[in-house]
Amino acid sequence: MTLRGWADLYAWQLDRASRTPLTRQIYIQVRSAVLSGALRPGTRMLSSRAMASKLGVARASVVLAYEHLLAEGYVESRHGSGTFIAGDLTGLASRRRGAPRATKRAVPTSAQTFSDFERSAVQSDARPFNTGRTLIDARTAETWRSLTHRAVRRLGANDLGYTDPAGLAELRENICDYVRAARAVRCDPEQIVITAGTQQAIDIAIRVLLAPGDEVWVEDPGYPLTHAQLLLAKARPHPIPVDAQGLVVDAGMRMAPRARVAFVTPSHQFPTGVALSMARRLELLAWARQSGAFIVEDDYTSEFRYSGPPLASLQGLDNTEQVIYVGTLNKALFPGLRIGYAVVPRALLQAFVGARYLIDRQPATLQQAVVSEFMQQGHFAAHIRRMRQLYREQRDALAETLMRRAADRLDVAVPDQGMHLVAYLRDGSSDIAVEASAQRAGIVVRAISRFYRTAHPRAGLMLGFSGFPRQSIVPSAARLATLVAKCVRA
Ligand SMILES: Cc1ncc(COP(=O)(O)O)c(C=O)c1O
Repeated sequence: MTLRGWADLYAWQLDRASRTPLTRQIYIQVRSAVLSGALRPGTRMLSSRAMASKLGVARASVVLAYEHLLAEGYVESRHGSGTFIAGDLTGLASRRRGAPRATKRAVPTSAQTFSDFERSAVQSDARPFNTGRTLIDARTAETWRSLTHRAVRRLGANDLGYTDPAGLAELRENICDYVRAARAVRCDPEQIVITAGTQQAIDIAIRVLLAPGDEVWVEDPGYPLTHAQLLLAKARPHPIPVDAQGLVVDAGMRMAPRARVAFVTPSHQFPTGVALSMARRLELLAWARQSGAFIVEDDYTSEFRYSGPPLASLQGLDNTEQVIYVGTLNKALFPGLRIGYAVVPRALLQAFVGARYLIDRQPATLQQAVVSEFMQQGHFAAHIRRMRQLYREQRDALAETLMRRAADRLDVAVPDQGMHLVAYLRDGSSDIAVEASAQRAGIVVRAISRFYRTAHPRAGLMLGFSGFPRQSIVPSAARLATLVAKCVRA
């Protein structure tokens, strides 16, 4: 590969007051750029004419220096295409000078907190049954490509500059229409703030709503990223138990009555998949109203509801504007998109947009324009319809295979919605052991006991089904069933 342009950007310097001849200085400059690794093998050097004009010296000085470098093997000449940093620098590396040596330095506690956070290492793992993966069919891929081309062609001077930190007006309108219709969310377009996804929306909500030491409710078991974000903000998360009806609100009122915010996943509790019952929804809203607390509703994967009565959002039941509704297109479309949104109560709007601006100014214009057209032209609704059908078939294939092969060992909870299911281990054996042995066998499962804080953990396997076609789900589920049988017997 030829690396172009970098030699032009390199900070070449000559010291005209020095007694070292200019040719020698040029030779030394190029050699040290090579030895320090600043210019990698394959980098195209400036022509002698360009280098001479850049440095303001006679061309002959550069030609002489290049000849010297050529003779020593630092650069090579390719006939008709110029001079390049030599590809084979064997032996030169040992002469490298100035490469920074790793020093042992105390890492500040704040940095340690981030590096201690154990990311789900399998995040980008494409094997079944990794969670959070989506499928994009040929129709969506093609539409996306052509809308992107169109958006690039249409970008005007205004789009290339700084734009509204809350997001493009047309995208906010489209999202507003969508959440009103599909999720019964109460909103006006100006209440929509475009974010990079749920992760950023929750980060902003934490910054806007909480001071260090403030108490909050989180679900137990619950979403580990929200918990970690709260700890980083020095808030005090209280894990509140979850049962078959979702968050146990009266336990929350007993355990942390002064909480300022409750973070919940009401339509598909993470990780159990249960839906918050209507009685609990009303109880939660009543508590928020009485105590002046806010609720952050993470409505991830709400697009993929397969069965059961339609579930409206919690926000739609709230008439006192105490719910921040958070949605994401990173699940509805694909995680690499990095676009989500928050529907923000009017009283918090200015603060929310201000925080968005301070964090990273604004969302990327091009991506927003594409998503907006995708929605406007009806492709989003059609994509959801097709994927809902596909994911339902994948969910069924996974559940059926596991139940056929391991019904005595696994209790498969088939969710009405979402992109993963939980298969509970019947005899209370260790889900961590199954997770490890599945990993060795090339199957990705997540032990749900990891998501419990203080509540008694259940052993179960969280299995994503959205990212894999039926043909790979069935054999992998069969292998997993065999593996579970072995682990349980052992
Ligand atoms: C509970 C929950 N909320 C939201 C998300 C989506 O996050 P984002 O939009 O930042 O990709 C996920 C992804 O795994 C999740 O598990």
